[in-house]
Amino acid sequence: MGIESSCDDTAAAVVQNGKILANRVANQKVHEEFGGVVPELASRAHQKNIIPVVQAALTDAGLTPQDIDAIAFTQGPGLLGSLLVGASFAKGLSLSLDVPLVGVHHMRAHILAHFITEADGSANIPPLPFLCLTVSGGHTQLVVVRSATEMEVIGTTLDDAVGEAFDKVAKILGLPYPGGPVVDKLARQGNDQAFDFTKPRIEALDFSFSGIKTSFLYFLRKQKALNEAFIEENMNDLCASIQRCLVEILMDKLHLAVKQTGITAVAIAGGVSANSQLRDCLNLMQAKHGWQVFIPKFEYCTDNAAMIAMAGYLQYQAGDFADQAVAPSARLPF
Ligand code: KG4
Ligand code: ZN
Repeated sequence: MGIESSCDDTAAAVVQNGKILANRVANQKVHEEFGGVVPELASRAHQKNIIPVVQAALTDAGLTPQDIDAIAFTQGPGLLGSLLVGASFAKGLSLSLDVPLVGVHHMRAHILAHFITEADGSANIPPLPFLCLTVSGGHTQLVVVRSATEMEVIGTTLDDAVGEAFDKVAKILGLPYPGGPVVDKLARQGNDQAFDFTKPRIEALDFSFSGIKTSFLYFLRKQKALNEAFIEENMNDLCASIQRCLVEILMDKLHLAVKQTGITAVAIAGGVSANSQLRDCLNLMQAKHGWQVFIPKFEYCTDNAAMIAMAGYLQYQAGDFADQAVAPSARLPF
């Protein structure tokens, strides 16, 4: 059983011999009116959701709690209050069922979603080593994956994560939270060449997204001073143009990483890997440069428990268990 509660989604999943039998997520709606996740409200919603979600996953899998051999939970990184709910519940369940506890790293789990086999036996597991661009609301990382446990971060963001950049530009445009999927949707009806925004010049394989967000904000302020309705009149083009710039930053670094490492098996993971333009660009690389491309199914992109159950299964096999003294950590080291 895998349990995920790092941010604003409460999720539970069941994996058996590497195959996903059930994968449930309860999304929290309480944050919408605040334009971002409110940590205290997230913890309370996790408390309400966790038992029904775990029960639903067990029912989907056709199992009872007594069938479970181990409990994996997200140990971090994430919001501490949210992590505490999942960790405490997992500890209690592990004690009462007398089964081992496994502490999972959320960002590693996003990558390990690529190791999942579906209940029908289908899978699309990358060859080792592969490169993974892990892009979420809190992280932007380039990782060399040598095995399920041997991973090296070769590039990271120096400031905002790319998901955060999507959410912030959406907020500037007056769009609801989370902004990434909304920008993605509106961008499909827009011209991505309508506007251009200065991209950062960052050394090597690291990223930066705070400058482009500021450049976007200043551009809009200037335009709004000339035309009060500028945003409304250009919404789709603005979404398409800023999305193109953000995706170009990611793709430029991915190219550089392939060149530097010589690894051409390339995967994406994390919430922003649901972005349609990023997925299209990556597919294009397969045709154009012969990369072997691995794009997760949508349900394994944003936060989910299938990836936690999968990571837990791999750690279980390696005998990597946690004890009851384990503490969740908001900034768990990679
Ligand atoms: O991995 P995730 O679900 O949670 C974290 O671990 O942070 O990622 C959430 C992030 C949010 O910033 C959200 O706006 C972004 O992923 N996101 C997207 C899309 N779907 C989710 N960004 C761009 N395009 C999307 N389609
Ligand atoms: Zn995540």
